[in-house]
Amino acid sequence: MLHVNENYARIKPTYLFAEIAHRVQEHQKSGNAGRIIRLGIGDVTEPLAPAVVEAMHKAVDDEAGRENFHGYGPEQGYQFLRDKIAEIDFHSRGIDIKPDEILVSDGAKCDCGNIQELFSVDVKVAVTDPVYPVYVDTNVMAGRHNIELLKCGKENGFVPSPAGCDADIVYLCFPNNPTGAVATKAQLQEWVDWANAGKKLIIFDAAYEAFIRTEGIPHSIYECEGARTCAIEMRSYSKTAGFTGVRCGYTVVPTELYAYASDGTPVSLKAMWTRRQTTKFNGASYITQRGAEAIYSPEGMKQTKDIIDFYLENARLVREALTSLGYEAFGGVDSPYVWIDVKGSSWDFFDKLLKEANVVTTPGAGFGEAGEGFIRISAFNSRENVLEAIDRISRVL
Ligand code: MLT
Repeated sequence: MLHVNENYARIKPTYLFAEIAHRVQEHQKSGNAGRIIRLGIGDVTEPLAPAVVEAMHKAVDDEAGRENFHGYGPEQGYQFLRDKIAEIDFHSRGIDIKPDEILVSDGAKCDCGNIQELFSVDVKVAVTDPVYPVYVDTNVMAGRHNIELLKCGKENGFVPSPAGCDADIVYLCFPNNPTGAVATKAQLQEWVDWANAGKKLIIFDAAYEAFIRTEGIPHSIYECEGARTCAIEMRSYSKTAGFTGVRCGYTVVPTELYAYASDGTPVSLKAMWTRRQTTKFNGASYITQRGAEAIYSPEGMKQTKDIIDFYLENARLVREALTSLGYEAFGGVDSPYVWIDVKGSSWDFFDKLLKEANVVTTPGAGFGEAGEGFIRISAFNSRENVLEAIDRISRVL
């Protein structure tokens, strides 16, 4: 008999954003829907930066001729991109990360879902609550059911402390999805010290780092002393450069990062992740990586920063509007997400905004129990749509 992986029965039958898409479709089918404005899933709306488009066009031309044609590329990413990442994302901030510690991929979602494969099924994992569902679901799919939840609420500014956490691996995401909270260097340093003291691992999701504008907030876990021996970091160009449809990101695994075999032998995580990627992944496309490289050109950096500033202004407008309606709003300063205390059921509030304002948001309960009572509003949309959504929400509330 063909047996299924029964761990799948332990996760919700649909992924959060698939469930939301389904509710939106049902509303549209009801015949009462007006024009829908989507501030739910964090999907970008602004076109790619011109520098990126130009580089990708040129890469298509390379692929169209014999002279610069590229077939399979290196699974870990082209050297031209890894060099730029090391130089601009890390060295320019005084962080020591070498190009060969950077593995380019097709985005942070895959990497943060796949990384758990490197660890024994009996390691204990901790995540924040609320949390990006991928960290939890991928561990449950793999057979890990005993997941520690680190409650994040107003009382701790949505940033957990390691005190009392007895997991082997912790997933941290800052700026945070979904709450929009940021962690200070001192808060991250506590986690790094905790991890080094107990031979534990931090999986740091920095997908939203480009939204940080507040001076002194760390952009990378490697700004903390000792992080090279206890942390993996993931980055994505999805929100940074509008790559949600293009797909590219990377994972940093420092050379001195080890996990242990059952007899205590240290095993290099960089070697394991490289083995995993070279076996199961054929690399992001040459065209994509040329586009990603262009993000680091002077024009590319200016153009992508302008797009992020545009979304951050949307976030400010949403945050101020909801605050003036009497709701407590968090995030939206160094983050494209605004997290709002709706003083009641998050799915009810979601349904109300969907049905009465034709505005899609994300109910906090979809990110975990501690998200109940909140909704997340994403700033990824045109200015016109954001202003109209604010106007409609104000009328409904
Ligand atoms: C979100 O809305 O939480 C994100 O867009 C999901 C993702 O990045 O996969």
